Amino acid sequence: MSPSASRIKSPQLLLAESGHDLEGHGLKRTMGLFQLVCFGVGAIVGTGIFVGLSDSVAEAGPAVVVSFVLAAITCIFTAFSFAELGGAIPVSGSSYSFAYASLGERAAFLVGWCLLLEYGVSVSAVAVGWSQYLNELLDSLTGWQLPDALSAGPGEGGVVNVPAVIVILLAATLLVRGVRESARATAAMAILKIGILVVFCAIGFSAFQAGHLSPFAEHGMGGITAGASVAFFSYIGFDAITTAGEEVKNPRRNIPIAILICIGLVTLLYCAVALSAIGALGADAVADRPAALSLVVDQVTGSSIGGGIIAFGAVVAIASVVLAVMYGQTRILMSMSRDGLVPRVFERVSPKSATPVANTWIVAAVFAVPAAFASLDVVVNLTTIGTLAVMAVVNLAVMVLRRRNPELPRSFRVPLFPLSPILGIGFCLYLIWGTGWTTWLQFAGFLVVGALVYAGYGRRHSRLVTAPGDDAAPVSPAG
Ligand code: ALA
Repeated sequence: MSPSASRIKSPQLLLAESGHDLEGHGLKRTMGLFQLVCFGVGAIVGTGIFVGLSDSVAEAGPAVVVSFVLAAITCIFTAFSFAELGGAIPVSGSSYSFAYASLGERAAFLVGWCLLLEYGVSVSAVAVGWSQYLNELLDSLTGWQLPDALSAGPGEGGVVNVPAVIVILLAATLLVRGVRESARATAAMAILKIGILVVFCAIGFSAFQAGHLSPFAEHGMGGITAGASVAFFSYIGFDAITTAGEEVKNPRRNIPIAILICIGLVTLLYCAVALSAIGALGADAVADRPAALSLVVDQVTGSSIGGGIIAFGAVVAIASVVLAVMYGQTRILMSMSRDGLVPRVFERVSPKSATPVANTWIVAAVFAVPAAFASLDVVVNLTTIGTLAVMAVVNLAVMVLRRRNPELPRSFRVPLFPLSPILGIGFCLYLIWGTGWTTWLQFAGFLVVGALVYAGYGRRHSRLVTAPGDDAAPVSPAG
């Protein structure tokens, strides 16, 4: 066994550290179940349904509902694992902390590194999607759009994507003003976006024709599978709930319940949106269309006002994802910083706002760069593969922690253990397979850089010390 493989932080230590901080300058426990569900919906529903639906329909046809269910099943197995771990170790840091407690420091660092894809790069990707919808909205309101040079990166025919940068800076401004206010804003946006999608379904179903659903699986099982890989992006974010562990009231109960409610709610919503869109116009009219939801509403109502309202909903929905995902990224870096694996600036909490101010602004500045200049496809694929890799590790962590720490109180236990986490790993690998070799190579390079950063910085600055036969204990912070 390699030295760092044995550098495991005990769950008791993770909790003790969190409790210690709460007495001092830690985070406030302000979030209840309702806020938590809104926070989850805020992190999940966004670019995937508003932009990605037309791509999934192009792959699967009307059977896209099966694709959504397959993607949801992948998430549900992993969500069970998140729920068990989030209930047993309710601290900020999400899968990073879970990996630290089960697989050791090096694996934890690499998970944290992959979370830079799932959260950080995802912020960039989602901000670029927001920029496109902002232009749609401007067009429907005023007939004027920002020029390409100022609303797209070089890979997409522009120079710099200014709106994508602006939405990131706006989200950072909200986050540094405090979790209570940010959670309220997130709740309002989550309710609004669910409302807009429900209105969309009502309009779509009013023109529903059963004949539009046949042939149902026109591209066969291959199409359904490809559609599921695309649809997976629209579920990313449910695990952000576990990154709020230290700010949640009664986390052992609320975290698992909130995760399961979110996945169920979102799956119903996505299937209803897909069925109503295809039922109204047919799969061909939806496939590969930009702003497909606006198009459906325009055609069904015979007016462009409805499409403008949907564009407004997309702008709100996607902004809410930027907010929630950026929040998750700052909390993960905070956990890594407490452990010494990234510089200490990331753990500093402002006594006035009780938020990590410097951390938030650094995250905003760094991920504004790909938002301004990167191609959407690349950042989306990297987000997807990074997320799937983390999810596979989380399923593994459940099995390891059951063996290492059977005594931990578990408010939720995965059903059919160990079948559920094993199936979770299988589904994650299956969807990783579907991302294609270009993304595998980019991801492999990213992991190599991560391993070098750990060897060059994280390993040396780690505050964890281990004594033979003992659980790991932290080195006292110097100052
Ligand atoms: N699930 C998130 C979205 O669809 C990433 O925008």
